Amino acid sequence: MKYIIAAIKPFKLDEVREALTAVGVKGMMVSEIKGFGAQSGHTEIYRGAEYEVSFVPKVKLEVAVRSALAESVVETIAKVAKTDKIGDGKIFVLDLSQALRVRTGETNEDAL
Ligand SMILES: Nc1ncnc2c1ncn2[C@@H]1O[C@H](COP(=O)(O)OP(=O)(O)OP(=O)(O)O)[C@@H](O)[C@H]1O
Ligand SMILES: [Mg+2]
Repeated sequence: MKYIIAAIKPFKLDEVREALTAVGVKGMMVSEIKGFGAQSGHTEIYRGAEYEVSFVPKVKLEVAVRSALAESVVETIAKVAKTDKIGDGKIFVLDLSQALRVRTGETNEDAL
């Protein structure tokens, strides 16, 4: 299994969620975060405002999937979240060693 963590522009959340559901994602975690990337200390536009500070609002997605689905999840996020402007986000893929659905006791891929 893989655990995919992505930072995206907040206004892309609904579109990314719909696209991920369409490729078979069954659940995800969503957090409102702040972060910075390569332009730390420089300006980035967010909702028409220029952020001079080094932290810019982003949405963090966390998605656990069977390994076979990981590539299409990454491709889907990358395609849908892309605006070609700075701050489009970043995607990280981790190996996931265990999953458990609390209600049923199902484990690993059965729990996703
Ligand atoms: N090395 C990193 N480690 C953890 N999170 C990161 C890292 N780089 C970026 N992020 C997260 O991703 C968000 C978006 O990063 P961003 O898209 O600005 O990356 P970038 O490398 O600056 O690319 P770009 O030049 O396209 O802006 C950041 O606000 C931060 O939350
Ligand atoms: Mg950046």
